[in-house]
Amino acid sequence: MGRETLQPSGLRQRKTNSGARISALRRNQRALTYIESADRYLEAIGYTEHGFRHCDIVSKTAYRILKKLSYDETIATLAEAAGFLHDIGNMLGRRNHHRMGAFLAKEILEEEGYDIASVVTAMRAIVIHEEDEGVIPDEVCAALVIADKADVHRSRVRNPNMVTEDIHDRVNYAATESELSVRPEERTITLDLTIDTRISQVIEYFEIFLARMSACRKAAKVLGCEFNLFINTIRMA
Ligand SMILES: [Fe+2]
Ligand SMILES: [Fe+2]
Repeated sequence: MGRETLQPSGLRQRKTNSGARISALRRNQRALTYIESADRYLEAIGYTEHGFRHCDIVSKTAYRILKKLSYDETIATLAEAAGFLHDIGNMLGRRNHHRMGAFLAKEILEEEGYDIASVVTAMRAIVIHEEDEGVIPDEVCAALVIADKADVHRSRVRNPNMVTEDIHDRVNYAATESELSVRPEERTITLDLTIDTRISQVIEYFEIFLARMSACRKAAKVLGCEFNLFINTIRMA
């Protein structure tokens, strides 16, 4: 149901401003509870951080990518909303978190007054962020895929003492800097990573991220851009 505000004139007017809508979504109690619960579950099974930090970064990055490329504010804020909710399905288990997350997000987006076309677009982006079926269907999905895969950083590792045990922890912990730049004039999206090779070799990064990087390339293409990856200033892709 859409929210309404009482105007000075006394007329009640439906708020359709996409900025106000995304702010309300970020305060939605159900969304906040789901994000926290998803992160608690992943912590229990030994996964890297997927909580407010990750959801916030992914949502803001997805928005920034589309704005930089001059997409409409409504589309950019829809990608922001999908980014904020994309990992909530983890509260019900890791394996199908993308599919479950899409249905959990539907309920929240409807509660916040998103129209059905927007809800469908966000649901599909949430499914595809984890399950590449060979095609990135639209800009919202493309921005979400890149934003999610670009969030590689040591701050996501919960227990630095355990990094020798797990390759995901090791690779994330080794990433001391990570920066995603969007250059509309060159039509490029570039991920620059600084990897501490004393912790993880670049080859390990590839072992984990090869599939993700190919998804980023496909996603960038949908946005009319080329995707570049630099590790320690050396061009990898
Ligand atoms: Fe995910
Ligand atoms: Fe994610």
